[in-house]
Amino acid sequence: MNAAPEVIVRLFTPADLLPCTEVEQAVYGSGAYSTYFFRQLHDLFPRLLWVAEDQRTGKIVGHLCAAIGQGGQTGWILNTAVLAHYRRQGVGRRLMEQGMAELRAAGVQRALVTSEPENEAALRLYERFGFRPVRLEPDYYGDGCDRLILECVLNETQSLADEGGK
Ligand SMILES: CC(C)(COP(=O)(O)OP(=O)(O)OC[C@H]1O[C@@H](n2cnc3c(N)ncnc32)[C@H](O)[C@@H]1OP(=O)(O)O)[C@@H](O)C(=O)NCCC(=O)NCCS
Repeated sequence: MNAAPEVIVRLFTPADLLPCTEVEQAVYGSGAYSTYFFRQLHDLFPRLLWVAEDQRTGKIVGHLCAAIGQGGQTGWILNTAVLAHYRRQGVGRRLMEQGMAELRAAGVQRALVTSEPENEAALRLYERFGFRPVRLEPDYYGDGCDRLILECVLNETQSLADEGGK
């Protein structure tokens, strides 16, 4: 795997708002997060929003959004996105390393992420970080599409699987 040394991973700043929205639209089309969403996520969780930047051009080529749920026990990887041209070069992995390190540092007991069941790239990426499927949630976004919920236990606690959530 090419480690894409020209790409650095760093914390998001408000100057990244529009570039991140453009990455979103390129990757997710009509399902893209809005500029408004990025701004509010940054206000809420400034250490849980990371970007990948091509240092040669200053272009934002990917990002990771994470959040921590009420009560502080559950972290969420909300979204990872890498522009097609930059995929399979370790950018998603490096974004995940940062996001997961921050969730660990924040003391969350488990991390969750959702994926379309057929999204092989996302599933393999998350599995590499210890995520395992715990249940399928039908019609997750109300649009007829199912989502797989994956969990990674970070600190010993009861997992969704133990709760019979599978
Ligand atoms: C998922 C995504 C973020 C991965 O980003 P990436 O930069 O290509 O990932 P990396 O190069 O860091 O890959 C890390 C590991 O993930 C897995 N992986 C990534 N892409 C894969 C693919 N197309 N097929 C199988 N495994 C894949 C591999 O295990 C890979 O390690 P390896 O290259 O040593 O085999 C990227 O494909 C993407 O943006 N997809 C569209 C948006 C999306 O679906 N996001 C997830 C939402 S749930």
